[in-house]
Amino acid sequence: MWWKNSVVYQIYPRSFKDSNGDGIGDLQGIISKLDYLAYLGIDVIWLCPVYQSQNEDNGYDISDYKNIHYEYGTMKDIEMLIEEASKREIKIMMDIVANHTSSEHEWFKEARKNKNSPYHDYYIFKENKGSVPSDLQSIFLDSAWEYNQQTNEYYLHMFAKGQPDLNWHHKPVRDSIFDILQFWVDKGIKGFRFDVIDLIAKEINEGIIGDGPKLHEYIKEMTKNVLSKADLITVGETWGATVEKAKLFSNKDGSEFSMIFNFEHILLDQQPNKEKWDLLPLDLIKLKEVFKAQQQGLYNEGWNSLFWNNHDLPRIVSRWGNDKKYHKESAKMLATLLHFMQGTPYIYQGEEIGMTNMKFESIDDYKDIETLNLIKTRKKLGYSIEDILKSVDAKGRDNSRTPYQWNDKKYAGFSDVNPWILVNNNYVNINLEKQIGDQSSILEYYRKLIYYRRHSVYRDIIEKADFNLLYENHSEVFAYERTYKNQKLIVLCNFYDQKVFIDDKITYEKVLITNQKDVLLENGINLRPYEAIVLIASDQQ
Ligand code: GLC
Ligand code: CA
Repeated sequence: MWWKNSVVYQIYPRSFKDSNGDGIGDLQGIISKLDYLAYLGIDVIWLCPVYQSQNEDNGYDISDYKNIHYEYGTMKDIEMLIEEASKREIKIMMDIVANHTSSEHEWFKEARKNKNSPYHDYYIFKENKGSVPSDLQSIFLDSAWEYNQQTNEYYLHMFAKGQPDLNWHHKPVRDSIFDILQFWVDKGIKGFRFDVIDLIAKEINEGIIGDGPKLHEYIKEMTKNVLSKADLITVGETWGATVEKAKLFSNKDGSEFSMIFNFEHILLDQQPNKEKWDLLPLDLIKLKEVFKAQQQGLYNEGWNSLFWNNHDLPRIVSRWGNDKKYHKESAKMLATLLHFMQGTPYIYQGEEIGMTNMKFESIDDYKDIETLNLIKTRKKLGYSIEDILKSVDAKGRDNSRTPYQWNDKKYAGFSDVNPWILVNNNYVNINLEKQIGDQSSILEYYRKLIYYRRHSVYRDIIEKADFNLLYENHSEVFAYERTYKNQKLIVLCNFYDQKVFIDDKITYEKVLITNQKDVLLENGINLRPYEAIVLIASDQQ
């Protein structure tokens, strides 16, 4: 399984690189940066949706799965991307949104016209009995039901009303999706990321949305029919996952996915039973428990994905790191913590240069449909603007969607014109050009992490070793060791901005990497703010 040594780089096309001066990132822009990605050392690109779309949810509302959205380019451009990437030994992973389509998809346009359309059963309609079928809320904050006049019915949309949910219980829907997957496999792509895949098998009459009883049956069918026939990397997005569920999804018999995104660690600073917007301080002990459960639970049972960021999450350096005084240190510490675990790491564009959350000055600058809905809903509920913006600044998805900071020229080198969303002002200091070749930069640190996993003599230990927490109950230090054959890898991370001392002596042969100039391990373990150290030792037993 080649992807066990892979490092995936996630591209949010709208904000990566604009090649034709319309302020919107595009496929040719990505092609122009492939040399950079090869330099970074990644071997898979997860490409967020570039299909024809109404763009209500930036591509996650697809109106034609076999065409490219005009702002991103053409079919020729994506073929060129696949080919040019392949020349650099980089594979393309497509993002498949199979839980819903756009309401402008031909299937839905037909479906909504009349009840006898062959496409009607492609979606989830409910008869109009005088009121909305249920009080089910969409994830984007209003009713999940939308009235459809032509048939006098309601249709289900778990996201925006322009994103009607597909009915996976209807075999032709599954076959149509499999056909789309095959189409892309035939084009030469080498993987898929499956958007909100744990929602596809909902049983709306039983009130079941996530993890429907037939979920694994459908995934197995998909794998058998398409995925297993090509040697792909596959990852399911599953917000409701636990380690036990991850074992099923990433079953080592290969009957489902390579891995899933398990969000348990990233959801830890949310208040139980509250909306996702109001965060609590992180409890490091809990974070350690969750990683331990993931690492040990899937050991020899399945496979983990390793991630801090994506296009739906605030930037980790601003969230659990310190994007001011300890920007470099904390960005590197968080990277170290993750990159020496077992699993496949995902780097979200800009993470590797320490891009930070965005502070938008005006409410009109937000673009994300989820954020705009939140602002609307909370205004109605009487929240003050300051209060709303506090939540948005903490958790809004536009935080991580600002243009990639290539250099210190106008618009950060992303485009020649004003981009579709504001550039973060800190691009003058935080940009790729400044970091390339600077051995103390976050970028060059990430390059080393990627190199160790993919090509170094530590490749086996990083891929295969077990996982044990050290100083498990320490509330500021996240430390673990991994043992494989007679070698040991020890990772020590200070998670906070205060010095810590642990009265313990570590014997080691070599410092593999650290985010400081030296290590202070002579008389006990001394860790400076956000210090990270990786040691190689031999296993004494
Ligand atoms: C996933 C995507 C997110 C999108 C949603 C609906 O969570 O990552 O960006 O809004 O699905 O497709
Ligand atoms: Ca463009």
